[in-house]
Order: sequence, then structure tokens, then C-alpha cells
Amino acid sequence: MKGVVLAGGTGSRLRPITFSMAKQLVPVANKPILFYGLEDLAEAGIEEVGIIIAPQTGDEIRRTVGNGDRFGLRIEYIVQDEPLGLAHALKTALPFVDGDDVLMYLGDNLVKQGVADVVRDFKSDRPNCQILLTKVDDPSQFGVAELGAAGEVVRLVEKPSSPRSDLALVGVYLFDNSVVEAVNSIQPSARGELEITDAIQYLVTSGRDVRPSLVTGWWKDTGKKEDLLHANELVLSDLVEDIQSEVIGGSMRGTVCIGAGSRVVDCDITGPVVIGANVHLVRTTIGSNTAIGDGCRLADANLEESIVLDDAEIHGWKLRNSLIGRGAELHGSAPAGFVEVTLGERSEILGE
Ligand code: G1P
Repeated sequence: MKGVVLAGGTGSRLRPITFSMAKQLVPVANKPILFYGLEDLAEAGIEEVGIIIAPQTGDEIRRTVGNGDRFGLRIEYIVQDEPLGLAHALKTALPFVDGDDVLMYLGDNLVKQGVADVVRDFKSDRPNCQILLTKVDDPSQFGVAELGAAGEVVRLVEKPSSPRSDLALVGVYLFDNSVVEAVNSIQPSARGELEITDAIQYLVTSGRDVRPSLVTGWWKDTGKKEDLLHANELVLSDLVEDIQSEVIGGSMRGTVCIGAGSRVVDCDITGPVVIGANVHLVRTTIGSNTAIGDGCRLADANLEESIVLDDAEIHGWKLRNSLIGRGAELHGSAPAGFVEVTLGERSEILGE
């Protein structure tokens, strides 16, 4: 089985962060989202992965991910010239798949349980397609599956305005080579895209075996800031303590990780919190569910439920539910209370 990981798209819902970086590289608990998926594929025994990239962000993804050695994978890059839909992306990857079974994974998805179980089931039961489903509160935001009395897939609809079930399609899809016929038979949807949902519907309609499996652990599509922060919280809830730097004065409770070469002086930290390498933290309070990237500088600040990317500087500000881009700076006299900020790469906010 080959893996096809989708890492194109514009990330419009994560602007301004995605003006300067690919959305799949935004970190969750200090690791690019995309790495979680690649690790899951490796864990499931998949060895060859094609990553679909867009011309705009592809180079950064190539540079960051490399040839796959670090994951135990052989990675190839496949350029999708235009964002014409998930089924179009898979169609672009068909020469790479070369008639093999394929697991398609959306590079901005996080699946707690990984994919090893579904890969094993697919290989032993040999359906034509296996999809992962999970109950959601807002099905109209997703592809939605309607199941029949025996639990079989009856109908799939992409982002329906009146959903007939609360079962959303998770961004992990397994196919045998009948997918070739499916992606070549469908037409663009009303939004002008070749929808993977329509390709799977084609398989259902043509009598193929499409198996649903329910996701047992959590699943997150990290397309929006709220989801990204929630994913950060979910990943941090499994954090294992690892302190590799000097901590002077202050207090620490809960699970905390601090990378090498950092200095933490007179700070109050309440985990789960992850702090990267070469970070300087002085007289700062860090509340739970916060991730601070490498090389950041924080003084007299207060942060909670936030993600700070590498090399950012924060002086005197109190931030909650915030997303601070690489090398961004907040200083000057800050507002008295907590504020919620999303700040793009190398942008600066100077208080009054
Ligand atoms: C895509 C799929 C949708 C699926 C979702 C999962 O939507 O089209 O069927 O439920 O991913 O993340 P997108 O996030 O691209 O809008």
C-alpha cells in the first residue's frame, strides 16, 4: 500500500499565519501538523509516500520534510498545479500509486488512534474502499455519510446544508485500484472541484464494497485557529515530562517539557506546556495548553491556551487563545487584561 498525503491548499482560514507558511507546517505541540500524519503512516507499515504539494508552498514542505529518512519513509513530491479538489489531487498521484492500494491522508488532519488498525483491517478484509467516520456537532462543515440499517454506506454528501446524519468523513481514505475508475468518472462539483466524496459515492453506486469504520479516539481537522488550538490541547494532554534546561526560581506544576539551551528564570508554569530549545523566559506566567517554539524570548508576559511559533518575542503582554507567528513581536505597554491575538510572521505590535 502506498500513502498519498495532501499538503497543498492555501490555508485561507489560518491567515495571516499562512501568508508566509504552509498550513500543514504550522506546529501543534511544537511539531508540524504534517509530521503526525507521516509518523502514523510509517507506524502502519507504509513505506512509500507521495506528498501532493502546491506550487506556492511546495518548496517549504520539501525542505522541511526531506526525503523521508527521518520517518522511515521514502517520500516523493507530486505537484498539483491547481487546487481542483481532493479527488483531483489523488488523480494527479495515480502514476505514483501505479495500481497499488492507496491510503490518502489529508495533511492538516490529526487522528489520535493513528491508521495502523484501519490499514490492517483493509489488508485482511479487502473492501474496495474504507472510510473513517466520526460524530461531529456541525456536520455541514464536512463530508457527511449516511448509513443504512445494517451499517452500510448509503450516501455521501460534501458539506450538505441539511445533513442527514452527524457522521463526518475524517481525512483518511483507503482504496484499492477501483479508485482509478472512480476519479476518472466523476465531474466537478458546484464549487468546481473533483470531490473525493463524489468518487466514493461513485464506488457505492456502482456496487463496490465501501466500509465505514468509526474513529475511536479524537480527530481534528486543523483548518481554523480554534481547531488548531484545540488540537494543541489534545496533543498536550499526552505530554511526557522532559526538562533539558536550567530552571531558576519560580514554580512549576503539571506536565512540562523544556528543550535544550533554554533559560527559565522566576517563571510560573502550569502544564501541560511545551517550551522549545534556546528559549528565554523571564518573570513570565505560562498557563496550560501552551506551546512555545524554539528561540522565543518572553519577559513579564502571561500566556495561556496559545501557540507561539519560533523566534517570537513577547514583553509584558497577557495572551490567551492566541497564535503568534515566527519572529513576531509584542512589546511596549500592553493592555491591562488578557487579549486574544493572531499575529503573522515577523509582524510587530507595539503597545502605547
Ligand atoms: C475535506 C473533505 C471533507 C472531509 C474533511 C475532513 O474538507 O472534503 O469531506 O470531511 O476534509 O477534514 P476540507 O477540510 O478540505 O474543507
